[in-house]
Amino acid sequence: MNEYERVLKKVLKAVTPTDADKKRIEELANRTLKLAKQEAERYQAKAMLAGSITRNTWLPWKMEFDVFILFPETMSEKEMEENGLKIGKSVIKKLKGKSVVEYAEHPYVSGSVRGVDIDIVPCYEIASPERLKSAVDRTPFHVKYIESHLPADAADDVRLFKQLCRANGIYGADARTEGLSGYVCELLMIKYGNFVDLLKAVTKWKPGEVIDIEKHYERGYWKLRKKFKQQVLILIDPIDKNRNAAAAFSANSFYKLKKVAKAFLEKPSVKLFEDRKYKPITENELIIKQMQRRTEVILVKFTPPKVVPDILWPQLRKFAARLESILEENEFHVLRRDVYTNESDLAVALLEMEVAKLPNVQKRVGPLVFDADDSKRFLEKYKPIALSGPFIERNFWVVEIRRRFLTAREKLMDSLQKPLKILKAKGIPNYIAEQIAKRFEIILETEKIMKLVKKDENFGVFLRRYFEKESLV
Ligand code: UTP
Ligand code: MN
Ligand code: MN
Repeated sequence: MNEYERVLKKVLKAVTPTDADKKRIEELANRTLKLAKQEAERYQAKAMLAGSITRNTWLPWKMEFDVFILFPETMSEKEMEENGLKIGKSVIKKLKGKSVVEYAEHPYVSGSVRGVDIDIVPCYEIASPERLKSAVDRTPFHVKYIESHLPADAADDVRLFKQLCRANGIYGADARTEGLSGYVCELLMIKYGNFVDLLKAVTKWKPGEVIDIEKHYERGYWKLRKKFKQQVLILIDPIDKNRNAAAAFSANSFYKLKKVAKAFLEKPSVKLFEDRKYKPITENELIIKQMQRRTEVILVKFTPPKVVPDILWPQLRKFAARLESILEENEFHVLRRDVYTNESDLAVALLEMEVAKLPNVQKRVGPLVFDADDSKRFLEKYKPIALSGPFIERNFWVVEIRRRFLTAREKLMDSLQKPLKILKAKGIPNYIAEQIAKRFEIILETEKIMKLVKKDENFGVFLRRYFEKESLV
């Protein structure tokens, strides 16, 4: 047995569900499917299992399976949604579980039955993937494709790979994680055959990598890179050539995966598969960081809107980007920005300022003295408010005036203390604008930052990771 096999065998023990868990989830899945089929019949619909339960690739820490309800295409979208929820709720009720309605592109039911999560998702039964109305309609095709292409003995390799991704924070195609979905992990295993060969391939990937398992496209791929521009991994969905199955995968996650793949191949270790734990930053560490960096950290803190994470995270990132551009337009300089939310009662945009204070006096360079009309307008406008001048520098009219906002904080305060309509007009994303209009706080003081850390440890972890950026190479 080589070194890889020795380590992987150990990891496999930890990521393979016990026989008891397997039995429990499979029995529950079959019972659920039977109930779902019965309920679905009343609406001319069908039911099928989907996701990792159908390929035996689920991990013990995620006791979950997925049931899809397939409605005839002739049913209206509204009816399909309503019936889907009715079926889902009724099935979970019959299993004596609790259910909540979750929202993706469509609402679906997420139930919990004796420690197992069950997603019951309505979709349309379509003749071919070209006719899909929403992303979930592809799922039945995914089930069939994986069923016929992923060898049964590759399930262990998929579990290893999923765990490696999870441990390094890149498992999941959601907007927060920007990583790889379970389906993508399975496709990669189909392509490369086994865990070690997959990692070897990963270390050779370049941004814009194209993987076209079903050869939907001719080699050369420059057209594809244009179609899917800015996407680091272009994994053509075997059942839908117009979709990049890895579209959610960010450049950051891409390089994280490459780094950990290289690390494993050079020196295999169980540690690489263990969830990385970080401690919240301490007050002393924060003070030292601030003294070393001599920047100013500004937090804009508010209560997150009650929207799904896949909407919240992109809006939060856009919000922070907008704050940065507002500051830059006013000659403040942002060194770096980031966002944090616990998705319940705390959302923060962090702006680390390279220039947070500006002088009282501000210089305005006007037109060339030869442009008579422009010069007249410039002088009329600025003479009354000039601190010095107007004077001439290299044949341009110049004036020095008083600056309105001397600190980044004041500028942000002024920009954000506005009614909802104005916030939206300024380009603050809608749901965030609604919250900011109600209440927000700008925090600079270390003690106040540490108060937040005490209330929410994960925010402290976020700060540590912000200041201790790891090398991606
Ligand atoms: P899952 O997220 O449950 O993934 O979605 P998975 O493949 O079963 O992997 P793990 O082991 O649970 O992490 C299952 C299927 O349901 C679809 C996904 O596309 C996937 O094919 N799905 C799920 C949606 O389309 N929308 C949803 O909101 C949820
Ligand atoms: Mn699942
Ligand atoms: Mn699911």
